[in-house]
Amino acid sequence: MVSGKKVILVLHGPNLNLLGSREVEIYGSIKLEDLNNLLYKEAEKLSVKVDCFQSNCEGELLDRIHRAPAVYHGIIINPGAYTHYSIALRDALAGVDVPAVEVHLSNIYAREEFRHRSVIAPVVRGQICGFGPQSYLLALRALCDGIS
Ligand code: DQA
Repeated sequence: MVSGKKVILVLHGPNLNLLGSREVEIYGSIKLEDLNNLLYKEAEKLSVKVDCFQSNCEGELLDRIHRAPAVYHGIIINPGAYTHYSIALRDALAGVDVPAVEVHLSNIYAREEFRHRSVIAPVVRGQICGFGPQSYLLALRALCDGIS
């Protein structure tokens, strides 16, 4: 465990590397890099550190979650489409003793029916969706309150 500042892992799942050009009417025009910069700034204000990682591969996300207990005090995860069917991600989050918050840019409950179900939600502290980039910032605040 790193001493000093608390460290939060931010995991962005599949297709989130396309932010800024992907379905902008749903996800907005912010690029992933700019979203990460917002998180770094907010983290500074909250006196914590964030590490951001994006992958389109389920296994890479699983590996990060498995390694999290040794390094991180909390996880913010936007599992993208994995939200709706990845039992492997769900099991990984359930299997590590690190508080996690699930986030989505869009309101998944106001969209297609297949997005209404999250297999992740039952194993995380909470879910924040529908607030665009603010979903992540709210999650960071919630995690910081929970870990201080
Ligand atoms: C998303 C919602 C998911 O349903 C979708 O597959 C995504 C993005 C969001 O942030 O709103 O890739 O997680």
